[in-house]
Amino acid sequence: MQKYSFYQHFEGWEEFVKRPLGERLPVFFREGRIYDVLFSQQFDRPFLDSLYDLTNRIRRIAKAREGARWLHDLHGHRRAMLYFVQPSTRTFLSFLNACHILGFHTSEIRDPHTSSEIKGESPEDSIRTFSSYVDLIVMRHPQEGFAEKTAWLLNVYSDRPVPLINAGSGSDQHPTQALLDVYTLQRSFEDRGGIEGKVIALVGDLKRGRTVRSLSYLMKNYPGVKLLFAAPPAFQIGEDIKEFLSNQGVPFEEHTSLEPLLGRADAIYMTRIQDEHDKDGKSESQYEDFCLRKRDLAKMKPDAIVMHPLPRRGEIEVAVDRDPRAMYWRQERNGMWIRAALISVIFGSDEEVRTEGERYLSDGSPAYSL
Ligand code: NCD
Repeated sequence: MQKYSFYQHFEGWEEFVKRPLGERLPVFFREGRIYDVLFSQQFDRPFLDSLYDLTNRIRRIAKAREGARWLHDLHGHRRAMLYFVQPSTRTFLSFLNACHILGFHTSEIRDPHTSSEIKGESPEDSIRTFSSYVDLIVMRHPQEGFAEKTAWLLNVYSDRPVPLINAGSGSDQHPTQALLDVYTLQRSFEDRGGIEGKVIALVGDLKRGRTVRSLSYLMKNYPGVKLLFAAPPAFQIGEDIKEFLSNQGVPFEEHTSLEPLLGRADAIYMTRIQDEHDKDGKSESQYEDFCLRKRDLAKMKPDAIVMHPLPRRGEIEVAVDRDPRAMYWRQERNGMWIRAALISVIFGSDEEVRTEGERYLSDGSPAYSL
């Protein structure tokens, strides 16, 4: 029997969460600055552009020993908690290393069975306990909405609130993945007029894949983008995303196979089937039509890129990795740097990085050469 996972009732929460998102978001900002990072809808274009500039600066500063030392000293007095109670490799490691780049000391819980939740402590009380010891909480949790609930709780109930970053909330959102995805698109299309006007195919389990959901929300910031969704009939993109895109004037098409889209897309974003969400342990076997093989590369535009949030299973044949259009390993590396930049923004060291950090950029290396 799963012993943890009894959730508590908090006065005010039910009323709060029923309000439209736009009315809830101000709780997660402080003095005009993002504080809790929970949803992709929190990011607007000026924020995205300035975060990319900061990310490029941080990765260049970190390249030289003196610069890396200087960055490490920025938050040497801070501590972060990584509460990852759902499996994770790269998101966990990239956050851990992003924290270390900025000098944060870190602690972690990856299995609630090693915490007092096994004694019956509620997950909410666990989070409140973390806030007694640390200055930042990064959370991956299987339950949709739990990150928002605990961020709200810390803001409303706690005498020592700390910022909380959602590193994946059930099948709902993964906002920092969306940031690194857009950063990867931006870098890839730097010399081709940016993301604006590009055709982006999103392929796979679109119903339960939180990365595609979060990325779709960000597309409203890039005029002229067209989305092509390709998924098995049972795993089509959610109605809520379609409604959002229609309201924002982002054109999209829905397809049930990848093949016809190969020659149309400027970026092909592959995803895996999310069968860990299957309650009955069965997974759909109709994934054949949603794989990218070496032989498909010839049908793609010569300068199109292939992305994947990873982990992959069979969706991208390993032989594709050697094609210069395969961007997923770079995409993975980008994650650590953008997360370092995001944490710097939350803790207000971004201005210092832009001004004082400038002296570590004197080698004249271009921002995009890394
Ligand atoms: C994704 C996730 O956890 O949602 N992985 C990641 O964070 N890079 C995608 C997935 O698990 O399929």
